[in-house]
Amino acid sequence: MLNSQRIFVEAIRRYCADHHITVEVRADGWLIVMRGGGKRHCAFGYDLGLNSAVAHRIANDKSATADVLAMADVPCVPHVLFLNPELNAYVPSRGSWGAMLALLQQHPQGVVVKPNEGTSGKSVFLVSSAPALELAVNKIFAAHASLAMSPFLAIEHEVRVVLLDGTPLVVYGKDRPTVLGDGEHSLLELALTTLPADRRSAVLPGLFADVEKAVLDAIVPAGERRVLNWRHNLEFGARPRLVEQGEDRDICIALAQRAAEAIGIRFASIDVVRVDRGWQILEVNSGVMMEALSKLHPELVQAAYGAALDKVFG
Ligand SMILES: Nc1ncnc2c1ncn2[C@@H]1O[C@H](COP(=O)(O)OP(=O)(O)O)[C@@H](O)[C@H]1O
Ligand SMILES: [Mg+2]
Repeated sequence: MLNSQRIFVEAIRRYCADHHITVEVRADGWLIVMRGGGKRHCAFGYDLGLNSAVAHRIANDKSATADVLAMADVPCVPHVLFLNPELNAYVPSRGSWGAMLALLQQHPQGVVVKPNEGTSGKSVFLVSSAPALELAVNKIFAAHASLAMSPFLAIEHEVRVVLLDGTPLVVYGKDRPTVLGDGEHSLLELALTTLPADRRSAVLPGLFADVEKAVLDAIVPAGERRVLNWRHNLEFGARPRLVEQGEDRDICIALAQRAAEAIGIRFASIDVVRVDRGWQILEVNSGVMMEALSKLHPELVQAAYGAALDKVFG
């Protein structure tokens, strides 16, 4: 069982033990059947079974999510869909490459290409030239049926709101790993010496994949802070940090509530990003994974899954 999955399964097991509900786990944790109080309920993957099928599918589809949110006037990062040419029967006869290049040309700061139904930052590429775009598109289409393209935005903060029927259960920011230059050591030296041992294996692969050798070996000027991964995924070493009460937290919650309402989703983790001091939705996840958070705040994670299961058995 994946480590992240184990947290989810353990939270369900504990809830069920506390509420006299029998629980059976199959398929290495992917399928969970609960029985209690005259009810029978299934969980699958990270899905607790509260969301409708269509809400789940829209949330899983980054471009459909962006379309639905735009229609509801909820500020969000645009995601343009391109189908794998293997699905040629469903692709406009002019092909996709011209439209992809045109999007790249409209955004000289670069574009982000990612699997349209991806998670955990896997195969998410930042590209700013036609050859780099071609390579990224090839890599994604080798394994996925579709991709989504968005303009690259200088994201200052990414905040995740876990929402249940409009009520925020947990609100946390994702702090990317950074190093502080000292005018003596290279980016790579700083990363190796200042990252705690338990974060190196998460952070370093992304650093090698994304950053050119010359930049890795160049001395970082004293006082200059550099992020070690441009993505905010916890899987690449970003750290969860609970967001304090205040205006930013309120704005993130209000936006997440509007997004959830537009999609008609009950239980979701919704990512909100700050760009140029304004907030917008980046993505909506219908499966709620909280592995990294559970290392710091296990009680919050248990309470969040418990609140969701109360909707079923309460
Ligand atoms: N358009 C964008 N501009 C800047 N950064 C982006 C953009 N899209 C994604 N990212 C970065 O990449 C990360 C992963 O992208 P995301 O859309 O959340 O996909 P996933 O579902 O794989 O997590 C985000 O946390 C964010 O840091
Ligand atoms: Mg994400």
